[in-house]
Amino acid sequence: MTSPVRVAVLVSGGGTNLQALLDAFRDSPDARIARVISSRRDAGALQRASRAGVPTTVLHNSRDAAELLAALGDAQLVVLAGYLKLVPRAVVSHFRGRMINIHPALLPDFGGPGMYGHHVHAAVLASGARESGATVHFVDEVFDRGEIIAQEKVRIEPGDTPDTLAARVLEAEHRLLPRVVLDLARRIG
Ligand code: GRF
Repeated sequence: MTSPVRVAVLVSGGGTNLQALLDAFRDSPDARIARVISSRRDAGALQRASRAGVPTTVLHNSRDAAELLAALGDAQLVVLAGYLKLVPRAVVSHFRGRMINIHPALLPDFGGPGMYGHHVHAAVLASGARESGATVHFVDEVFDRGEIIAQEKVRIEPGDTPDTLAARVLEAEHRLLPRVVLDLARRIG
């Protein structure tokens, strides 16, 4: 009997994707949310982790590879869920193929530095695209460039605003991310 894969989640914001993972893996034999690491002391995600009894760390310097590696500890899989900082090269190479990120658009479009939250959805609507969606990809040394693992598409409705589109894309994220984590955990475990 193998023990559940230890998952570490990196956050910077409210943590609704973290909540989707906490809910999906509460009593799972496949994966366990073992620790939550934040780049911000005031991230709402930290309260969600504490309510679920998951240990948390707030980074002093997100550019410090040694600090982040120490915080990740014996994690086997790393998930970036609303984490807004670039992961240091040494950490990326240590977790190559075992570190993933969720992005609220259909990469490779609408990704890169500055492309987060409201900015992404405003750019998608301004482009006249007919659909958007969520992407889960492996993390490499460049924001939002790593190999795409899975996507879920969301149709753009007449009259959509960045907020209404963001809300529907977030629902897709909450379905897609636990599914990909489960699949990877079963491969790693
Ligand atoms: C999500 O849309 C995610 O794709 C993006 O940041 C947002 C974070 O949301 N990277 P939350 O903190 O998980 O609620």
